[in-house]
Amino acid sequence: MPSQGRKMLVTSALPYANGPIHLGHLVEYIQTDVWVRFQKMRGAECWYVCADDTHGTPIMLKAEQEGTTPEALIGRIGSEHRADFAEFGIGFDCYYSTHSEENRELAGEIYHRLKDRGYIEARTITQLYDPVKKMFLPDRFIKGECPKCGAKDQYGDSCEVCGATYSPTELKNPVSAVSGAIPVERETEHFFFKLSSFDGFLKDWVHQKGHLQPEVAHKVDEWLETGLREWDITRDPPYFGFEIPDAPGKYFYVWLDAPIGYMASFKHLCQQKGLDFEAWWGEGSDSELYHFIGKDIIYFHALFWPAMLHGAGFRTPSAVYAHGFLTVNGEKMSKSRGTFIKARTYLQHLDPQYLRYYFAAKLGSGVEDIDLSFEDFTQRVNADLVGKVVNIASRTSSFIRKRFSNKLAGQLPDRDLFQRFLMASEEIAGLYEAREFGKAMREIMALADVANQFIDEHKPWVIAKEPGRETELQAICTQGLNLFRLLVAYLKPVLPKLAAQSETLLAIEPDQWPDLETQPLLNHKINDFKPLLQRVDPDKITAMMDASKESLASQPQGALAAEPIAEEIEFGDFAKIDLRIARIVGAERVEGADKLLKLTLDLGGENRTVFAGIKSAYDPENLIGRLTVMVANLKPRKMRFGLSEGMVLAAGPGGKELFLLLPDEGAEPGMRVK
Ligand code: MSP
Ligand code: ZN
Repeated sequence: MPSQGRKMLVTSALPYANGPIHLGHLVEYIQTDVWVRFQKMRGAECWYVCADDTHGTPIMLKAEQEGTTPEALIGRIGSEHRADFAEFGIGFDCYYSTHSEENRELAGEIYHRLKDRGYIEARTITQLYDPVKKMFLPDRFIKGECPKCGAKDQYGDSCEVCGATYSPTELKNPVSAVSGAIPVERETEHFFFKLSSFDGFLKDWVHQKGHLQPEVAHKVDEWLETGLREWDITRDPPYFGFEIPDAPGKYFYVWLDAPIGYMASFKHLCQQKGLDFEAWWGEGSDSELYHFIGKDIIYFHALFWPAMLHGAGFRTPSAVYAHGFLTVNGEKMSKSRGTFIKARTYLQHLDPQYLRYYFAAKLGSGVEDIDLSFEDFTQRVNADLVGKVVNIASRTSSFIRKRFSNKLAGQLPDRDLFQRFLMASEEIAGLYEAREFGKAMREIMALADVANQFIDEHKPWVIAKEPGRETELQAICTQGLNLFRLLVAYLKPVLPKLAAQSETLLAIEPDQWPDLETQPLLNHKINDFKPLLQRVDPDKITAMMDASKESLASQPQGALAAEPIAEEIEFGDFAKIDLRIARIVGAERVEGADKLLKLTLDLGGENRTVFAGIKSAYDPENLIGRLTVMVANLKPRKMRFGLSEGMVLAAGPGGKELFLLLPDEGAEPGMRVK
């Protein structure tokens, strides 16, 4: 077998542990799984590892929103991911977590090696800090106006309107997306990986044969020409990640330990299987290492990762294979259109084999986006898998069962045709190897057409009615089933479940990749035919899309999404707060305070002074005389401008959007609100 002797380690990108697997992700896991299954069928020693990517600010904040710990959250999402992948037939040899001891150790080791060799540098930088939430803000958690075109509501790193990229400190009127507070600039010491030290190494690596697809190498060239920037690998607490060994209170940025997660997952596998980690990852290893990724994370895998490995004295990847993004019915996946489909929702309605086949039929070796059109999906699966492939078995095995007690004939009527199917083996293998799955599927379906033609020409259903033609009938059906067996073997990397079912039907051991030596099944007893694959039912697609729309409706939106409901409290906790109706009898600006108004509140017999941060939304003149609600038993607070004896209640994110509460008519100052 041609792949025998090859030692391969294959990975898919590690999905973030803060959300469910969706059909977009599955492009990658199915693509990788097909390739790995193909390599294994060809006799390679091939290991497929992956893990959940568990660190970073979004995961930390999501856990907080859900009122849980990051550890509990990643535990729950991890099991969901595993279940989804298992049902889609993704055959990982190890699915691990970046929040593991192996990963902590390896990240520490790589960091130390890089540091010892002078590739890490400390620098003090200025970053935006959320004074309310008490944390430094990642770019994606800052919103404001684009410094170039003035567009509102843009992220801290780039403008979606004019495409400008900038640093978050350049953003105008920035607001923290975490708390709504206005961020302040703060200094902090960070560590940087000196990527530019690897400029020469990378310029070679990128062009050495086969490391990157040509179009990807081209893109990476552009980055190399623009110049490599040093990479900030530090984050300040609060952060969910690994503390940097020799810098307590500093954490590794999630993207530092994420790719190391590939190694950690494999290390875990080594412990289970007794493999030698060094033989696979040490410099000069003779094994092959492949990373399958989406086109959005090329920078990390084609620049940072090889540089880190090389700098730390580990082997570098044999190749990084990028794929394009999934669109559904010609458009970006959309929650409102019901085309943002979770793996779980799909599984509740449709057979995962359909999607495996459909993606395989659409995938090539390039980085073009691929479209899932449900009309095309239905048509292709029904025509190819059900109409062409499965049909061969159902048409022929029934005669074998009814007329020959499940026994195949002793001879093929057209041995040349069988041989012709075997001769396609290397060509199809070449297409799989080159990740040209779409072309491989076309080759296989062309053979399926030939097999069906054979049956159509020999018309077993006619012969079956003619006395004395028993031998002929048995031989034709035996031919059909032998061709079916080869087709299914060629499809096995894509459709392992169908292959297993057909191996049961044919009563054979699991098939390896066919070659010219493969012998036909003759004088062989098979099992009763059981239905292999149903046709796609278009109603189920509609139901799946409706369910995807519904699951959106139940998602919090607007204010609720921005600030989820706080943890549950006892009634007693609430009752401690003494809320009173108050009339604003005085309101004035405060010299030297740009956010505060000084309010005088009448509680019906007693006056209170309250400093309220509502100047951006209210003119003091318009407040005098109106009623509102105040917290009357709040401990007075000494402020720079005087004593504040309570608090008025207002809603809204801040700035001009602040809204004081107004009681209904009839409420009197001093009444308790309860
Ligand atoms: N956690 C990082 C990867 C770290 S690898 C050391 C990440 N996670 S992800 O969950 O956002 O994406 C995982 C993989 O799925 C990525 O390769 C990404 O490109 C791919 N896809 C996510 N959405 C996709 C589509 N809509 N279409 C195709 N692939 C997509 O990135
Ligand atoms: Zn802009």
